[in-house]
Amino acid sequence: MKDTQQLIAQIQNKRGQRPIAEITAYDYPMARMIDEAGFDLILVGDSLGMVMMGHPDTTSVTMEHMEHHIRIVANGAPNTLIIGDLPINSYDSPEQALSNARRLIAAGADAVKLEGGQSRESAIRAIVEAGIPLQAHIGLLPQSVKGEGYRMKGKSEEEAQSIIKDMQAVVRAGAFSLVIECTRHSLAAQITAMCPIPTIGIGSGHGTCDGEVTVYHDIVGAFPWFVPSFVEPKAHINKDITRAIKSWRDELQIPQP
Ligand code: KIV
Repeated sequence: MKDTQQLIAQIQNKRGQRPIAEITAYDYPMARMIDEAGFDLILVGDSLGMVMMGHPDTTSVTMEHMEHHIRIVANGAPNTLIIGDLPINSYDSPEQALSNARRLIAAGADAVKLEGGQSRESAIRAIVEAGIPLQAHIGLLPQSVKGEGYRMKGKSEEEAQSIIKDMQAVVRAGAFSLVIECTRHSLAAQITAMCPIPTIGIGSGHGTCDGEVTVYHDIVGAFPWFVPSFVEPKAHINKDITRAIKSWRDELQIPQP
């Protein structure tokens, strides 16, 4: 039986000891391999809309998609803290945020994540006060990409100050950790130095945060059609898969196209 509070305490104690490692998973084999390898956190991210469903961004992901993938990840990861991402438009009021956070917990998540800082303070507080641990997410917010585009955040002093205020808001509201996505690297380091909870970077520079999060497909080379520029893939499994399926096809002597 997983002890969520103990796992969160362990993550918070790792601050400054060694980098915290978080990775996404969307199905049973991914979750089981990650669980057996030993990670601090698994994120069932709404990035599944892109790497599992082939959409250009995360904005078509629904609560039903998230519940389905959380259920199958939970089946494969009995030892690792699982964070379920609240999809776009599922936390527009504190009441809606809490009710949907409860749905993700019922599906098997141990904690939830949502995007935004100052504007989401009351939604985060409602979730945390109900006893659900929450990871916050500031900097580049993929769910806002249609308005804002994919670009590094915090380049202007005004934007940097607003991201620092986002950090302060999520800390006040009770988040247990904080993803900082694609901010100027020195800003991520500055926020980490000021922040009382662990920071987890993605595209915000190496060594600037207490840990890092990566998308599974990016790191193993499972989605070759788009790899973010800041990712260094550790494998190219797409090549092995293509080789294996072609080899089987050729054994059948199916005429090549
Ligand atoms: O959905 C996701 O995978 C995420 C990470 C990029 C942090 O939010």
